[in-house]
Amino acid sequence: LGGASVRFFRPCPGLESWCLRSSASISKLNSISCSGLCVLPPVCRDGCIKAVGPADVIHSRFAGATFESKIDCTGKCVLPGLVDAHTHPVWAGDRVHEFAMKLAGASYMEIHQAGGGIHFTVEHTQKATEEELFTTFKHRLERMRRAGSTLVECKSGYGLNLETELKMLRVIERARQSMDIGISSTYCGAHSVPKGKTATEATDDIINNHLPKLKELQQSGEIHVNNIDVFCEKGVFDLASTRRILQAGKDTGLQINFHGDELHPMKSAELGAELGAQAISHLEEVSDEGITAMAKAKCAAVLLPTTAYMLRLKQPQARRMLDEGVIVALGSDFNPNAYCFSMPMVMHLACVNMKMSMNEALAAATINAAYALGKSDTHGSIEVGKQGDLVIINSSRWEHLIYQFGGHQTLIDYVIIKGKVV
Ligand code: NIG
Ligand code: FE
Repeated sequence: LGGASVRFFRPCPGLESWCLRSSASISKLNSISCSGLCVLPPVCRDGCIKAVGPADVIHSRFAGATFESKIDCTGKCVLPGLVDAHTHPVWAGDRVHEFAMKLAGASYMEIHQAGGGIHFTVEHTQKATEEELFTTFKHRLERMRRAGSTLVECKSGYGLNLETELKMLRVIERARQSMDIGISSTYCGAHSVPKGKTATEATDDIINNHLPKLKELQQSGEIHVNNIDVFCEKGVFDLASTRRILQAGKDTGLQINFHGDELHPMKSAELGAELGAQAISHLEEVSDEGITAMAKAKCAAVLLPTTAYMLRLKQPQARRMLDEGVIVALGSDFNPNAYCFSMPMVMHLACVNMKMSMNEALAAATINAAYALGKSDTHGSIEVGKQGDLVIINSSRWEHLIYQFGGHQTLIDYVIIKGKVV
């Protein structure tokens, strides 16, 4: 990059092996500040990053090559595409009326136990057609992409019965195949206990009926599901049921990535570490032992600043986790409770409310979020051979992506996925 200064960041503790080895090499996490004249972003070919380096080196290496398009990044910053490690984006029936109830003092669980919350969204999602769900989902993904997200974890979980869970997973699959955005698909049939069932009955149904059907559809190539999720919470799925479901999902070949220790201490972190979970989300109420176990097991913590903010929960102990060496990632948790599409906003909240540094927040929203989805070999940083997913902002200081809150459409000039401007 001509006259550009390349900034290096130390990834979060727990990923030391990915740090810079010498000042001449590029770390897996970087942002590139461009101040030269004619500046090439990383050169993308076949959807992957072909080269990264100073403009003169790139120019001489690719002299005579024809480029489909060149972007002049003078005065701009090039960052890795953002990775949103936790969303619930397929549903019908928003809950703006519940926002008012929460502002008036009702708690998340009070609303849930009174038949609202997830139950409300389940009722509407069960009635919605696949087409209706796809249309709104597509629109939501486009909004996430405009805010810089290039890889998004997407959960089912507002169906609860097999028919609607599969409807949601098919909708996710359709977007995965037809849209220019990366998707990691998660089966979350244990998001809530369906009305009229006990948690044990729901657990048996998932293990005996849902997972075998899922396996069949995975094998026939009809859907591609990556992760299994459970809402491990008091009054939802207890630790024993969570263990049974997660183990059965793992036996089906799914990565474990679940909701734990959000509203009550459940020992979810200890369970996840024991079962080899790739990631656990929320963790507002995680125990000290749970943090240690997660660090040791290299199980990522997906922290969700929007939820803690919205529900006025205790903030997750991001600092303690980072100091203990936990791989800390971030997600928007987009859902009818936390209606936020924007990872820049999430990073901002993580810095202000969870006391993360801007470097840590960027690592958490890129390379560490990719790790939480088992995709850090191909996503989450600007490196030769990785997928060409980039965000270009019209500021020479990358920190503006976090510093400015709201209005990212005027800051983000380009979102590039697999080398293509989207
Ligand atoms: O991650 N905590 C459980 N699941 C979601 C909320 C889903 C909903 O309320 O619709 C979460 O915050
Ligand atoms: Fe969630």
